[in-house]
Amino acid sequence: MIIKSCELSSFRNAESERIEFSPTVNVIYGENAQGKTNILEGIYIFARGKSFRAFKDKEIIQFGKSVAYSKIEYEKKKEKNTLGVEISKSAPKKFYKNGVKAERTADIIGEFRAVLFCPSHLGIVSDSASVRRNFLDVAISQLKPIYIKMMSRYNNVLANRNAILKMSDEEREQYRSMIDIYSSELASLNADIADVRREYVRKLDYWVREIFSQMTNGKEVPKITYETGADKEDFESRERLKNKYHTLLSENYDREVKYGATLFGIHKDDLKIEINGRDARFYASQGQQRSLALAMKMAEGEISRESCSEYPVFLLDDVLSELDINRRKYVLSNINNRQVIITSCEPLVFENAETNYIYIKDGQVCEDIKENTEPDVTEDEGDGEE
Ligand SMILES: Nc1ncnc2c1ncn2[C@@H]1O[C@H](COP(=O)(O)OP(=O)(O)OP(=O)(O)O)[C@@H](O)[C@H]1O
Ligand SMILES: [Mg+2]
Repeated sequence: MIIKSCELSSFRNAESERIEFSPTVNVIYGENAQGKTNILEGIYIFARGKSFRAFKDKEIIQFGKSVAYSKIEYEKKKEKNTLGVEISKSAPKKFYKNGVKAERTADIIGEFRAVLFCPSHLGIVSDSASVRRNFLDVAISQLKPIYIKMMSRYNNVLANRNAILKMSDEEREQYRSMIDIYSSELASLNADIADVRREYVRKLDYWVREIFSQMTNGKEVPKITYETGADKEDFESRERLKNKYHTLLSENYDREVKYGATLFGIHKDDLKIEINGRDARFYASQGQQRSLALAMKMAEGEISRESCSEYPVFLLDDVLSELDINRRKYVLSNINNRQVIITSCEPLVFENAETNYIYIKDGQVCEDIKENTEPDVTEDEGDGEE
């Protein structure tokens, strides 16, 4: 997957900009608050279907304007395509593939695949379970479009079931039969989603082990396990898995009424992340946790490559400065055979990779008039972490 260009119009601080990318390493650099991350946002919106940082996509629309646009030209298995998005104050967001409007956002997800790595991802090991679930959901959605539909249905049914659980005793009794219908549907969706997530985590575990072993010369062995309401044996058949979730939903009704919420199901899933047999949340150093986060992101790229037979585009938002010298070296020596777009305050120098430099000032691609080639990240001192 290669992105050739990105055109932004009234998109945050980009008035009307076209940015061209090389198929190797691209460094978008410039001072703070100039619009570097805005460009990644304009690209990644096609991988995820929404902004990775806006609370509402409408925040993207340039102050004083009513519509924002982003359009990318990309090559997927050597075939040229375009994706466009129109974000309007007064209408729902519209996506276009090769100029044709997509009926739903879900229809374009998976078309353009990218792995985004930004500083907030470095906390994935110690953050709340919802961050790890989100990691799974974003990664799987790009590979399996049906997963988006399953999740959307699950969230709808869950919201309806929770609304009934929150009702007064009298009101709830009138909807008792609806609870049973929702429980059956949730049990079925739980089984489908858990199966997909478990398979993804199996691959994630394999690749994180491989990558982590390279990073630490085999000294540390990570392990990632999928944690859900069902046990390992329940995965033997879909029927058994569905029954397990159904039992969890029906046997805990009184407790659920007390809490006014559905207490069991894939919305409570987590990833157990260990190093050398110990829970990384409690025993890993901050440096080890960051290495795990990096390995998980690199693994996301490997799984995507395995299933689609080409690498996704790697978008690294200001993340290299957050990594110590060894991890930076690992990243730098493993990005040669794919397209990478990196944002940084400095024009990072890569010894072994052909690099395309893009200087951004006030939301515009400009010529960098000051002589500035320092520093060389490959020669940097470590930051003393670990
Ligand atoms: N809707 C908007 N309309 C116009 N400008 C906006 C809008 N939203 C954000 N901005 C501006 O975009 C700029 C931030 O852009 P961005 O986050 O891409 O910066 P950056 O170059 O990545 O900075 P840093 O190096 O600090 O990460 C800020 O100047 C902000 O005021
Ligand atoms: Mg930024």
